Amino acid sequence: MNSQDEIENTPTGISSRFICTANHGFAPYAQEELRRKFGSVKSTVLLPGEIFLGTLDVSSQEAIERLRMEQPIFLRHIFPVQYQIGIVEGNKDNAMLQLTACLQHLPELRGAQVTVQARKAGQDSWEGTSTDLKDEIQEGLKELVHEFVVKEAELIVSVLATDKALYAGISSPQDNLSDWNGGAVRFQKEEGQISRAKFKLLEAERVFGIDFTAFKEALDIGAAPGGWTSFLLERGLRVTAVDPAKMHPSLMESDRLTYLNKNADSVKFRENQFDLLVCDMSWSPKLTAKLVTALLYSLVPGGTAIVTVKLLSKKPLALIREVMDTFEEANLQIQRAKQLFHNRDEITLYMVKY
Ligand SMILES: C[S@@+](CC[C@H](N)C(=O)[O-])C[C@H]1O[C@@H](n2cnc3c(N)ncnc32)[C@H](O)[C@@H]1O
Repeated sequence: MNSQDEIENTPTGISSRFICTANHGFAPYAQEELRRKFGSVKSTVLLPGEIFLGTLDVSSQEAIERLRMEQPIFLRHIFPVQYQIGIVEGNKDNAMLQLTACLQHLPELRGAQVTVQARKAGQDSWEGTSTDLKDEIQEGLKELVHEFVVKEAELIVSVLATDKALYAGISSPQDNLSDWNGGAVRFQKEEGQISRAKFKLLEAERVFGIDFTAFKEALDIGAAPGGWTSFLLERGLRVTAVDPAKMHPSLMESDRLTYLNKNADSVKFRENQFDLLVCDMSWSPKLTAKLVTALLYSLVPGGTAIVTVKLLSKKPLALIREVMDTFEEANLQIQRAKQLFHNRDEITLYMVKY
């Protein structure tokens, strides 16, 4: 079945469909974000807690524009569904042939630089790996496409395989909320890497487009064992790290590190001492907000704050609103609030002091 032949009964007569992805367990909040933004949303779960097919009562272009203008927190990745090919009686080869035939008719692919992003919704949804699936699609398109690239594609061909259907769509990389496959930002683990927490700051750098080399003096609250501190030192900053727990010994050699082996509620700094404040305490979100705001005198106006907010409550959207209000009342302007791929039960706030 080609979904372009389907007619949806919507109040406006216009609708668009997207494959939507959130971090595992957070899809219901991504659905709620869409509902709040677009009114009614029809959702079909494709991978529980993670991937769903969302139907919106607006055109695909309008949906993308509105999502890009005010980016969602939990919705990590989308791609528009232009084709939905049913897998009849388990005949996956036939479904793939049909999909390739559909894609081969798309004039925009001719001569373009294309990335194919293929995913499976569950282990058994396709034989072979996601890479095998991608290779099959590329094979079918090789006469048409100028070049298959990994980065800086003009167009992305996205395919999701479930055990019942292949979903596919073509979009510009910036229209998918993330140009990574499914929004899963992957970094190589480095030798001697102190903690996986470092990936969160690496991802914040990429996703929020923050140039950390532009800062000079950072305060890292809840710094141990030191993944974030090591990242900031690598970017050339001087770092004051605060934590009652011990930092990794490899960091202690740096003459740009000041380590305060203390609780963050018992430290004192000069006014405007820092131009960057980061905090990753894995602690009660409201107490974290209180602690960070109490130290804001040490952050220069125009300085940046990056804070992870643990989602302990069953109502994360309400909790996030409350925590953001606390920060906003303390003169922090929220630039982005996002559940990064490397955030577990938390989100990351990127803020600027005014
Ligand atoms: C998730 S770990 C931080 C990981 C760190 N960002 C990294 O990259 O290695 C949380 C840290 O917050 C610290 N912490 C918790 N409460 C704190 C407080 N009130 N003051 C300072 N540090 C605190 C804990 O001791 C713990 O080391």
